[in-house]
Amino acid sequence: MSKKIEKYTFYTTEWQEYLSQLEEKINESAYLPKYHLYPKTGLMNDPNGLSYFNGKYQVFYQWFPFDSFHGMKHWGHATSEDLVKFKDEGFALIPDEEYEKNGAYSGNAFEYNDELYLFYTANYKTNTGKVAKQALAIMDKKGTITKYPKNPILEGAPKGFSQELRDPFVFERNSSFYMLLGGGRFLEGEQTGFGDIGELLLYKSTNLVDWTYQGTIDLPIDKGYMLECPSLVTIDGKDVLFLSPMGYEKETYRYQNRFSSIYLVGQLDVEKRTFALEHVDELDAGFDYYAPQSFYGKNQLPLTFGWFGCGEQVYPIDTEGWKHGLTTAQEMRLVDGKLRRFPTEEVQKQFTDKQTIRTNQLLLEYPYYHLQFELNKEQESTICFGTKDDFWQLNLDEKKETVTIDRGHLAKKIDTEYGMKRTCEIAELANNITVDVFVDNSFIELYLNEGERVFSFRVFLESEQTTISFSKETEATWAYLK
Ligand code: FRU
Repeated sequence: MSKKIEKYTFYTTEWQEYLSQLEEKINESAYLPKYHLYPKTGLMNDPNGLSYFNGKYQVFYQWFPFDSFHGMKHWGHATSEDLVKFKDEGFALIPDEEYEKNGAYSGNAFEYNDELYLFYTANYKTNTGKVAKQALAIMDKKGTITKYPKNPILEGAPKGFSQELRDPFVFERNSSFYMLLGGGRFLEGEQTGFGDIGELLLYKSTNLVDWTYQGTIDLPIDKGYMLECPSLVTIDGKDVLFLSPMGYEKETYRYQNRFSSIYLVGQLDVEKRTFALEHVDELDAGFDYYAPQSFYGKNQLPLTFGWFGCGEQVYPIDTEGWKHGLTTAQEMRLVDGKLRRFPTEEVQKQFTDKQTIRTNQLLLEYPYYHLQFELNKEQESTICFGTKDDFWQLNLDEKKETVTIDRGHLAKKIDTEYGMKRTCEIAELANNITVDVFVDNSFIELYLNEGERVFSFRVFLESEQTTISFSKETEATWAYLK
């Protein structure tokens, strides 16, 4: 059991016993979720290859199966009918080829001729730095995944760009195939490592395997020093582009985490390589959110999952051998040109027997619930969740017109290096703000006005019971997970 795990280890059957023992140990954790996807062992990060294929949702994810740190990335796989109950499908990609010797990094899925094309970055390190490589694997309707024999399908970065070039996102437009890659450019000469300015690169193909570089997309935004995980959906005729930039400066109420995720609304022109920007904002105001991917679900529903984590955070349960997970599946819509994301109806439907009460205090017996209440923007309000010596809180400051989540009063402190509070502005929100809190043990998603603002964050309370104390009498509605 106490095997020393080398960072770049890939799975072979020799690891089976070790992994089953680890899984048994993890099953005893007090902090496992019930309706968020989490790794049965090891570390889960970005959602990958999200798609509705063969009558089922296909959810892939970045996975280091052996321990709770960022090691050799495999692709894990789960399928689901409803995005609430997930069937574990085990390994989708094991990085056992020379060209991917440092991991199978993120990418997306594209359905073509009844097969699911899985695009990913083959992470390849040398003594003098990385060599950018993109690869392809194809899943048939039986679920068999075969790596493309001529991998990599793209090698190296265009001149002047960093070899940290990754996270392919393939889509179709005007009857051609396009691939977005996130990367960075050097301001002077050729260098190694990350670039100086983040860039979004565009490639084109007629057959999904031969790709030609078109140039960068002109994005009228701060691009940091590296753009990760691009994805794109169209909602009501508008393009919504998701990006995860590295290197954003902290602002008073935005970009508080080590890395940030943003969305852009506008029009992408693949010929001119421009994005006519109408709106841009941070996606999530919480502590634990990064690298989301957007996709179309059943009936072309625009959906997204995010990684419920960010960077290399320190959690009190790091020794348990599992780390992170994904957010719930969230449905997206545009309201007044801005994005709202909220758990799908299927997620909401799992909470039954709603109860409503007007109170100052509520005791919830189990840490799997959906709680709703309203806040008035003109009245200060504080709501504490937990017990006297171990709680997190939400505060509405009517003067500053902000909502803050504070993890500073928890007995088990979390990732203290990155601060205890996250704040978002509510000036633009209507006077009455609805709050929806979806608690799944240590995974919390808190929505203002059905996703006008969202906080995703982890909390490790010591008690299973949660006392919710409102600073003034409030009408609260709650329901437990079925
Ligand atoms: C984002 C990211 C991606 C990369 C993957 C590796 O979290 O850094 O850019 O493909 O994680 O796990």
